[in-house]
Amino acid sequence: MNKSYLITGANRGIGLALTKIIIEKGDRVIALCRKPEEAEELRAISNTQGNLNIFKADVTKEDELIKISKSIDNIDFLICNAGIMGPRGGMNDKDTNYRNISEVLMTNVAGPFFTIKSFIGKLRESKDPKIVILSSRMGTQMHHGSDAYFYRASKAAVNNIMVSFSNELNQFNIPITSFHPGWVQTDMGGSNASLSPEESASSLIEQFKELGSKNTGKFYNYEGSEISF
Ligand SMILES: NC(=O)c1ccc[n+]([C@@H]2O[C@H](COP(=O)([O-])OP(=O)(O)OC[C@H]3O[C@@H](n4cnc5c(N)ncnc54)[C@H](OP(=O)(O)O)[C@@H]3O)[C@@H](O)[C@H]2O)c1
Repeated sequence: MNKSYLITGANRGIGLALTKIIIEKGDRVIALCRKPEEAEELRAISNTQGNLNIFKADVTKEDELIKISKSIDNIDFLICNAGIMGPRGGMNDKDTNYRNISEVLMTNVAGPFFTIKSFIGKLRESKDPKIVILSSRMGTQMHHGSDAYFYRASKAAVNNIMVSFSNELNQFNIPITSFHPGWVQTDMGGSNASLSPEESASSLIEQFKELGSKNTGKFYNYEGSEISF
């Protein structure tokens, strides 16, 4: 039977690549993005394919997410993909200020929290519900980086939140797992990255098929190996 996926930040990068592959397989995608009017690729797909619905949502705005959840049917798979890098430099990066730190933490940490909270009711209506968060290896505690302080911290924090959710959602048999998508050629990853968005997305989708209660609360690389965090 066809499944229904909800993806945040679906208008470009890894979110768009995931959306295209899932739509091509015949499953349904509820694609969330901040500016549907500018999401040309998504809109072009929805003009020809009936299994894509686009909604406007900023993941830092819980009211927008709740409003969408009231207007859709149940979902089987929730993918918290939306994210930002924020200031990339070291401790003296002048952009590492209150406003930019707040934006990274609100988007990458509170965003997945609000998304999961808003759509949990729709997932509970599914026979086989699953949640995935796009995190990053940059958030592991044992790293050698001295850059992107708050991106790293945000991905460490969202993995911690993933574990809390896995404990709270055990009672509903809803597994939740984080993934590192690889280093991917997107606006965030840059053109020197090692994977195309399509390569990352197709490998992630292969891994998603395997997810169950044995994986909840864990963090995986895009090719399936477990990452300690
Ligand atoms: N690329 C990599 O190498 C890499 C590596 C590790 C982890 N990741 C993670 O993978 C995920 C996707 O990354 P990407 O490379 O595809 O990034 P990207 O190309 O920069 O795309 C980011 C997406 O997130 C959306 N977004 C940002 N803030 C949002 C908000 N407040 N509300 C809703 N949507 C928002 C963007 O929408 P707008 O178009 O409106 O800005 C865009 O659709 C992120 O969580 C990232 O941290 C990526």
